[in-house]
Amino acid sequence: MVWSLQAPTDLSESQFVQWSKLLEERTGIQLSTQQKTLLQSQVAIRMRELGCEDYNQYFHDVTDGLTGLMEWSVLVDRLTVKETSFFRHRPSLEYVRRFLQHRIDNRQLDNSFDIWSVGCASGEEPYSLAMVANDCFELANLAPYYGITATDISQSALNQARRARYPQRKLEPLYPEEVQRYLTRTDDGQFEVAGKLRDRVCFSQGNITRIRTMPVIKMDVIFCQNLLVYFRRWLRRDILNAFADRLKPGGVLIIGLGEAVDWEHPELRRVVGDEVQAYVREERQKQ
Ligand SMILES: C[S@@+](CC[C@H](N)C(=O)[O-])C[C@H]1O[C@@H](n2cnc3c(N)ncnc32)[C@H](O)[C@@H]1O
Repeated sequence: MVWSLQAPTDLSESQFVQWSKLLEERTGIQLSTQQKTLLQSQVAIRMRELGCEDYNQYFHDVTDGLTGLMEWSVLVDRLTVKETSFFRHRPSLEYVRRFLQHRIDNRQLDNSFDIWSVGCASGEEPYSLAMVANDCFELANLAPYYGITATDISQSALNQARRARYPQRKLEPLYPEEVQRYLTRTDDGQFEVAGKLRDRVCFSQGNITRIRTMPVIKMDVIFCQNLLVYFRRWLRRDILNAFADRLKPGGVLIIGLGEAVDWEHPELRRVVGDEVQAYVREERQKQ
């Protein structure tokens, strides 16, 4: 790695527009002008690492062919917000618990209970979902027939997620019995997620703005929080409509509170209540 001593100058307005357009085209993330400093500092740090002093040259490098794509995959990690935590919005996870519990109690389980965690960041969200699902299956004395697909655009976040090790401060949102059941202290003082949860979660890279090109796999639960908020309204609606096509009959879509204000879908029913924002796909009418 080559370090340059000279800091790049400020991004001009037109350069900011150029960079933020690229980010939005490729990730859906919309930056406000107030976020110029954030964009500038992250791009500048990366340029310094590469010994590049000219924004235009670096823009050309990032958008040029295969090597550009490789460089983009590094830069995108720096430009996305990856803040997350275990049980970040507990009411939404408790909704999943009641939803699954109801299925189990009423013997309505298919071969497998399938969950998709969209924008899973470093893994705390899908592992929280796995804790909930595992609790339900264990309580009912059933084999854990559930699977979680967890996707994110950021390769480094996915690498962290697959590692499944977290520092102690990350466990704060968990109840002591959840820590005891599902995490083990490792030699390096971190906490590792139990293998029986890790085995149920499959991580893969996916850009949700390209959802229309992804295979249609039907899900019981689609869980997408703190991601749509970065996108324009038309894009949110487009993605939400695509989520609706990916729900099994009776399946549920759960988003963050307020992340879609006026979205409706003819085949989904909004769950009543203001603690969670969830939409259930109506069961098909029996003929
Ligand atoms: C703020 S985090 C939210 C994490 C988790 N869902 C939560 O609520 O705690 C947003 C995540 O979405 C990912 N992301 C951003 N743009 C994306 C895109 N176009 N497709 C898939 N993931 C994306 C980021 O890399 C980041 O990990």
